[in-house]
Amino acid sequence: MSLARRVAEAADLVTVALDELLPRADGPESRLTEAMRYAALGSGKRLRTFFALETGRLFDLEERPVLRAACALECIHAYSLVHDDLPCMDDDDMRRGQPTVHRAYDEATAVLAGDALQSAAFEILAHPDTHPDGAVRCELVLKLAVASGARGMAGGQMIDILGVREDLGGVARMQRLKTGALIACAFELPLVLARAQDGDRHAMLAFAHDLGLAYQIVDDLLDAEGEADAMGKAARKDAKMGKVNFVTLLGAEAARERLGLLASQTKAHLDPFGRRADLLRDSVDFVLERRQ
Ligand code: IPE
Ligand code: IPE
Ligand code: MG
Ligand code: MG
Ligand code: MG
Repeated sequence: MSLARRVAEAADLVTVALDELLPRADGPESRLTEAMRYAALGSGKRLRTFFALETGRLFDLEERPVLRAACALECIHAYSLVHDDLPCMDDDDMRRGQPTVHRAYDEATAVLAGDALQSAAFEILAHPDTHPDGAVRCELVLKLAVASGARGMAGGQMIDILGVREDLGGVARMQRLKTGALIACAFELPLVLARAQDGDRHAMLAFAHDLGLAYQIVDDLLDAEGEADAMGKAARKDAKMGKVNFVTLLGAEAARERLGLLASQTKAHLDPFGRRADLLRDSVDFVLERRQ
């Protein structure tokens, strides 16, 4: 099956699964559950889900537990976007081609929807349907908690918001935390389910970390050069807001050169998996060429 078909299939699968897993309520709290669904069921690319399902295939895992882990990860990602868009953070009006949650609802509802999506993620992972072995579920929870907290996404967002003029190493670290940690989780959670050997784990996570860095550089290039309509979110904001990233520091041309070097380094990490990892290898180009 082609890469584009697999990505589309992953998006359908996770959206249907999330629709089932996310709560619905009848009382006044239905405003919260509707806002959660609005944030999580919109037209995201679902690339983290694709990475998780592909890693599951590489290790011959049953699809259902991997899909539940992907749902949890998409909940955390959706929460991170809802909060990232708030007026106190990036102050954005559009996300995934529709008004951001605080625009469609209000700020308090957006804060709560983010909070509750985060809780939903851990509820999904900790549920016995995810895996019969409690120790495995606990490890999944631990990995996702580390990746989303102060040593992961939230920590990276703090550095981003402070806008500290770092050197390039500092910028790479910030990107690794704010975006790379959750992308890496798309590989890490299936690796836990597979009880993968150290060698395979290290190779896969090296791939994931470079891919995560590339993912954010592409996002920053798209902010500078992309089309808001295609992306479903605003463009040309990072420089205006004083964001520090490879593109605002080095310029688009130099950032693109780095991306080229990073791409071949990223793919090389998959060498130990041979042809079986071809789709994941091709996904690097897919990430680099994305326009949305
Ligand atoms: C946007 O993530 C924020 C970043 C971490 C770069 P995506 O580009 O994966 O957003 P969706 O999920 O497709 O909307
Ligand atoms: C956000 O990075 C990364 C998150 C952890 C949400 P950006 O602020 O660049 O993401 P976009 O451009 O708003 O999607
Ligand atoms: Mg941001
Ligand atoms: Mg933003
Ligand atoms: Mg951006």
